[in-house]
Amino acid sequence: MKTKSCWGNPPSRLYHFINRLPQHIHDVCIVGCSDGKFVFPFLRKGYRVTAIDIDKTALYGGMKQRPIERKKIEVLKYVSSNTKPQYDQLPTEAVQIDGLWKRCKKEHLTSNLNIIETDFYRDPPNKSFDVLFTSCSLQYKTNRSIPLEYIMNTLKNHVEIGGFLYMDYMMPLEDTHNWKSDHFFRSDQIKQFFSNGWEILYNREMHRPIFEAAHIDRPEDHFHRFGYILARKNV
Ligand SMILES: C[S@@+](CC[C@H](N)C(=O)[O-])C[C@H]1O[C@@H](n2cnc3c(N)ncnc32)[C@H](O)[C@@H]1O
Repeated sequence: MKTKSCWGNPPSRLYHFINRLPQHIHDVCIVGCSDGKFVFPFLRKGYRVTAIDIDKTALYGGMKQRPIERKKIEVLKYVSSNTKPQYDQLPTEAVQIDGLWKRCKKEHLTSNLNIIETDFYRDPPNKSFDVLFTSCSLQYKTNRSIPLEYIMNTLKNHVEIGGFLYMDYMMPLEDTHNWKSDHFFRSDQIKQFFSNGWEILYNREMHRPIFEAAHIDRPEDHFHRFGYILARKNV
């Protein structure tokens, strides 16, 4: 029985990445795994997955607040501005979510899964992985008191030589938006963290923000600007 993440379906770029992984890759770590959107595609392909999050409800299930479902969602158009955009909070309802562990049990995929409830940057596992994957996690408020360089080093230090670091990362809607913390990368900024011993295989950054409808943990419609990077650790 296939289950669904409360964060929606994985993007096609994930399957593209998995399908091109070399044969020596076995151990994958997902940092900020939530209820498993990025975990299941690896498990279903037979990889060993260490899934890490600080959010107990996302890992083991419980109640979350979700915007009440709307029949039609009006897609807002992004308007460039130098002041912080404010969006109205929409009405929400409490919903029960399964969480990663129950989803994995339902899909009979627990044998290759190791769930760790921890803050990855303050209390990381003491082993490294063939693939470290994180999607839009490092800009979370809990991480903002930790210097970006320390965060990037912690991620990179947990990758084996010959392994890969994949990151979806958030950018300020415009580079000039200085109310966004350092943990939102400005254009081309991320490259500086991969100058020594790393090879960037892919890096794409959006020029324009994209609309995202209100969702769990974010009850107002909003915009995001994303970047994507895949790098290999050579030494
Ligand atoms: C935007 S959610 C994305 C979830 C998942 N990547 C997805 O799209 O389905 C980011 C997740 O990262 C987790 N996170 C943020 N900072 C973390 C930290 N320091 N250690 C572990 N998890 C963290 C949050 O709890 C959240 O579940």
